[in-house]
Amino acid sequence: MPTTLSDAERHANMQQDTFLGHPKGLFVCFFTEMWERFSFYGMKALLFLYLIKYHLFTDEQGYNLIGAYGALVYAVPVVGGLLADRYLGMRKAVIFGACLLVLGHLGMAFEGHQAARVAGEVVRDEGALQVFYFSLALIIMGVGFLKPNISTIVGQLYPPQDPKRDSGFTLFYAGINLGATLAPLLCAYLGETYGWKYGFGLAGIGMLAGLIVFIRGQKYLYGVAEANDPEKLAKKRLGISTEVWIYLAASLSVLLIWGLVQTHSLVLQLSEMLPSASPVLWTLHGISLVLAIGIGWFMLKHCNKIERQQMTALLVFIVAGLIFFGLYEQTYGSWVAFSDRVMDRNMLGLEWSAGQLTFLGAFFVISLSPLFAWLWPKLASKGLDPSKPIKVALGILFAGLSFLVLVLGIQTPLESGLVSIWYLVLAYLVLEIGELLLSPIGLSAVTELSVKRVVSLMMGAWFLGTSYSEILAAELSKLAAIDTHGGVISDIPSAMQLYEELFIFSAQIGIAMAVVFFAISPLVKKLMHQQAAA
Ligand code: PHE
Repeated sequence: MPTTLSDAERHANMQQDTFLGHPKGLFVCFFTEMWERFSFYGMKALLFLYLIKYHLFTDEQGYNLIGAYGALVYAVPVVGGLLADRYLGMRKAVIFGACLLVLGHLGMAFEGHQAARVAGEVVRDEGALQVFYFSLALIIMGVGFLKPNISTIVGQLYPPQDPKRDSGFTLFYAGINLGATLAPLLCAYLGETYGWKYGFGLAGIGMLAGLIVFIRGQKYLYGVAEANDPEKLAKKRLGISTEVWIYLAASLSVLLIWGLVQTHSLVLQLSEMLPSASPVLWTLHGISLVLAIGIGWFMLKHCNKIERQQMTALLVFIVAGLIFFGLYEQTYGSWVAFSDRVMDRNMLGLEWSAGQLTFLGAFFVISLSPLFAWLWPKLASKGLDPSKPIKVALGILFAGLSFLVLVLGIQTPLESGLVSIWYLVLAYLVLEIGELLLSPIGLSAVTELSVKRVVSLMMGAWFLGTSYSEILAAELSKLAAIDTHGGVISDIPSAMQLYEELFIFSAQIGIAMAVVFFAISPLVKKLMHQQAAA
């Protein structure tokens, strides 16, 4: 891999090697991330149901675990992004992350014995559970190294003012959602129909495909994702290079996460008295504190007034993202439980499984994207394009409204007493309008509003916001925790009532927060200092 070329020379080489008008490297990133998200969402679609039905977790324990997993999986990218920036370079970080992910996802396919109720007590296969927690830890670390860096590589493929960059990112986002659409359809179907291990196993095979794509395609990156300072990386301490030290430290940290991910459910029982006793939460708070001090210090010492105000606006967007995804991530918690337990899942002549239906989110992202791509320029030409802070407020509003659609479904049940599946479809449609209003804005706000020197740190802060969202989503879902027997409920009407209360509360949060963000939007717009704030 030639590392002595300048960026301009690398880009010039890349321009000679294109496909559909984009550097071939884009398609390497597209397929790698498509497979990574395939494995990620295929596994996520099954996770809650697997815990409840196979290991006989209570709802509360299940939500705690998916909250802890989700929180850690989006906290580690903060570190993974920084390490790649300073030492490893993105290409090596992606390969390392992908290897951990293959191991983690394949490890999930080991299910051990199903838990059983013996004399009123649940007896679980503790050994198999340890393998499961360890696999989750590998996935958490793997995502931490892969996810932030594969996106940064996409940005590096284009010279600074290249107008193709945006369409490159749009294509990349389509790859993410293609993986996320196919995964639940295939993995959850296999997992729920033939056996959990087949679903998890397929996710693992998908990730293996991603690793192979990246290894074979890395030559098309033309050196743009290499370490900034290869000498620093090769420097030996105690006979071991910095690069190997990083891999060792990360592998040791997998052990730490292994412990952390399983303490959550145990300690949270204690946390009813002590709300922040969960070690996972402490970990998040710790990372946030360091990040907040770093960002605060940077803003005070190194930013001029305009930069400071732009960074402040960015922090507002990060909080908005946190709230939005706090509602959104319930799709893998309470929405899955709701669809599994109180919904008639027949649609278009097929019976859909609850995990499978999580495909609807990414499916609507893909279907609605062209509409938005057409709408924004159209509105802009009439001067009606809403500002970014307004779009973000609208995004949160739509998230709130999606829960109202479910409430409507509960209030107008079918003759069987169950909720019609079409309300879930409609709720996803409304939610995804929200995602498309908010998520691309958030990502572009990071790259536009952040002072360039700290952009990967701010990207980390955006992901960290999502970590808190996962905790928030789990805590909200827990409001509708039900005592089930391996996921089977006896009293459907009272379950429906519980879900109705949760969904009304979630809608209230969304609508109230949207009002707040509408109210502060003029101020945020001012802080952004943008000519055309669209
Ligand atoms: N669904 C997108 C992805 O997986 C965006 C997203 C990222 C959503 C992180 C939530 C958290 O990349």
